[in-house]
Amino acid sequence: MTTDKIDIHRGLADVYFDRTESSFIDGKGGILLYRGYNIHDLAEKSTFEETSYLLIHGKLPTQSELAVFDAELKAARNIPDEVVEIIRATKDSHPMDVLRTAASALSSFDPDAGDNSAEATLRKGLRLTSQVPIIVTTHYAIREGRIPTAPRDDLSHAANFLYMFHGEVQDDDTNDLMDKDFILHAEHGSNASSFTARVVVGTNADIHGAITAAIAALSGPSHGGAAEGVMKMSLEIGEPENAAQYVKDVLARRDRVMGFGHRVYRAEDPRARHLKAGVKRLSEEMGEPKWYGILEAVIEAMKPYARRGIHVNVDFFAGVIYYLNGIPEDLFVPIFAIGRMPGWVLQVLEQQENNILLRPRLSYVGPEEQAYVAIADR
Ligand code: SDX
Repeated sequence: MTTDKIDIHRGLADVYFDRTESSFIDGKGGILLYRGYNIHDLAEKSTFEETSYLLIHGKLPTQSELAVFDAELKAARNIPDEVVEIIRATKDSHPMDVLRTAASALSSFDPDAGDNSAEATLRKGLRLTSQVPIIVTTHYAIREGRIPTAPRDDLSHAANFLYMFHGEVQDDDTNDLMDKDFILHAEHGSNASSFTARVVVGTNADIHGAITAAIAALSGPSHGGAAEGVMKMSLEIGEPENAAQYVKDVLARRDRVMGFGHRVYRAEDPRARHLKAGVKRLSEEMGEPKWYGILEAVIEAMKPYARRGIHVNVDFFAGVIYYLNGIPEDLFVPIFAIGRMPGWVLQVLEQQENNILLRPRLSYVGPEEQAYVAIADR
């Protein structure tokens, strides 16, 4: 229909649609900075609360700033009874569908509902950051036929999540590894779920709508669902010596090996190594070293693909960590969502700050204009 020369960028691959101060990703070098700080430093030296403050407020907090921020998060560790009833009514759905539904319902009970100012959006974003783990663990308890464990405000975000999940406080190593996992999942530029959140806020819709849509986008196996896929793959492989043939069969079917590849990284995802050590330690401590062995064997089998820029990504090791923590596979993506909350809040606030409607084009290749024919004559 048009004679103009049009460049189509399917999947919007390598299309830059705005500027950001959130995170810098060097896909070739395998570098990730959150607000200028290297992910290696944050993973090894920071906490989820401190990294969340950095992402949302744009600087590392002082002791007192962090204490106030932490108190705000702890004060929001509750969800309305009406939302618990919605979780109960939808308890047989996939945890990501329950999370999406309950997060959306929270907007009806939020004290700042209807207020899209930056200040109100920030307050709602912090409340949602604390409420998402509660939705996930409340659903898990209800579907197991148990009374949900009430949150504690003397535990960190990660320790409280694991406490509400297991019903008892976990050891420091376990809590620290989950805290590190949340840091590593906290923000990643315009990934599909963050971009979705921006599109929603781009129409001046509110943060509950943006987070609901982001949760929906994250639930797909090409994005957040990979950790669940890696665990399923590891269970199917069963023993390290079966990995090479398994990978060969997947690739022969032109399927994707879960936990590998990335739209931006052409080198190893810098987040992966921080979880690899966790898998090694946990699988040895649990007396099940074979899981680490299976993952190592899959990496070995995928080595030829490294030349094509296909390496492990953040989800490759995460799934086995959750599994060894006794967490069922269908809760793996919700854990990704818990970690990604500060990144989503940041992307929403940044979009709102200098808002613009996100509305790309499609190049029409349908039929030329044609005359309408009455149904009697068709
Ligand atoms: C996350 O965007 C983000 O930042 C996401 C994320 C974040 O923090 O938000 O980093 C989190 O989503 C990590 C990715 C988790 N997903 C998976 O692990 C699922 C498996 N990975 C693939 O589905 C794939 O790698 C994607 C979807 C992640 C990226 O795919 P692209 O960029 O669309 O690339 P592609 O699918 O077009 O693949 C390009 C080529 C293909 O070969 P050809 O068909 O051109 O011959 O690379 C091959 C693919 O076959 N390839 C793979 C592969 N990934 C790409 N081959 C085998 N196994 C794979 N995993």
